[in-house]
Amino acid sequence: MRNLINKLRREQRLENEEWKQLLEAGKAEREGGAVFSLEENDSLLAYSACQARQVREEIFGKAIYIRGLIEFTSYCKNDCYYCGLRRSNKEAERYRLNQEEILSCCRKGYELGFRTFVLQGGEDGRLDDQWMEQMISRIKNEFSNCALTLSVGERERKTYLQWKNAGADRYLLRHETADSEHYKNLHPKELSLARRLDCLRNLKDLGYQTGCGIMVGSPGQTTEALIKDMEFMKMLQPEMVGIGPFLPQHSTPFAGEKAGTLEETLFLLSLIRLMLPKVLLPATTALGTVREGGREMGILCGANVVMPNLSPADVRKKYLLYDNKICTGDEAAESLSSLKKSMEKIGYEIVTDRGDSPMKKEREKHV
Ligand code: 5AD
Repeated sequence: MRNLINKLRREQRLENEEWKQLLEAGKAEREGGAVFSLEENDSLLAYSACQARQVREEIFGKAIYIRGLIEFTSYCKNDCYYCGLRRSNKEAERYRLNQEEILSCCRKGYELGFRTFVLQGGEDGRLDDQWMEQMISRIKNEFSNCALTLSVGERERKTYLQWKNAGADRYLLRHETADSEHYKNLHPKELSLARRLDCLRNLKDLGYQTGCGIMVGSPGQTTEALIKDMEFMKMLQPEMVGIGPFLPQHSTPFAGEKAGTLEETLFLLSLIRLMLPKVLLPATTALGTVREGGREMGILCGANVVMPNLSPADVRKKYLLYDNKICTGDEAAESLSSLKKSMEKIGYEIVTDRGDSPMKKEREKHV
């Protein structure tokens, strides 16, 4: 199996059959009780992590990029079975930040050293194209040396274009799964994989640095579905990939489902780093939630981004995609300084930099 990891590192691709062997071997190892350990051991997980770390360091050194996450609306018109913001969740308290509140999160973030802001929200039916355009312009005017990432779900191509023209740089839209049957298990019938993939193609085509991604261990996820995910990511060539374990939320239809595991998420992070060496790969909040120190382990498996929360402290506990989400209380400054320390402890350094994708820089060289 190490040969397959070596091949993935060398050629950045595997055949379908090889993915199957590798993913099944990883699964068998986890079922046998393998856990992540820093000491070199014989596990596939440790080997892939070590290879992924080397590849990450060849390209990015020890730098960790930070993104200031602003969760600006918890309204959502969708009803995804896994998500705590789904419209049928009557327990969820809804909120929407206004432009001044969002700008004040950015100002606080800028002082702390953030040079990327991520505006994330549910698919808020009242989120108006023009309002968003104006928000983007105001942020880009005031913070001209910062990158702006949007993550507000599926929209028309012309809207994505309008926002791009207003100055948005990047867009995160996890595809959730590249298997259409699995997609149907996770979403109500009005949502489709075809439409999701269309949005991702539009974003790429319009020149956004684009992020896709999945939840690891979501209900019904099979090895076949994961192979499709890897093949899809290879084809899309995203600048970013967001993955984290699926975590049940108590007032969703998936309340009683099993959570995704730390080990499986770490294994996939390292395989994604080997397949897409230049990708920006966050160690997500969900990874830090499934196990204390999970984000640090993600970094040691090839991740190179963290996304601390810049939302006002009083709204954080209302943005609950899943249960037990970390950092729902502490101030941004507090959580950044403890993150800095914990990253230094494992030999990495948080940098103040827009942290654009190296793929973007290469495209610009050619024009
Ligand atoms: N567990 C883990 N991740 C979740 N997301 C939504 N609900 C959950 C959950 N219960 C992820 C989805 C979405 C992103 C914003 O959060 O992948 O794209």
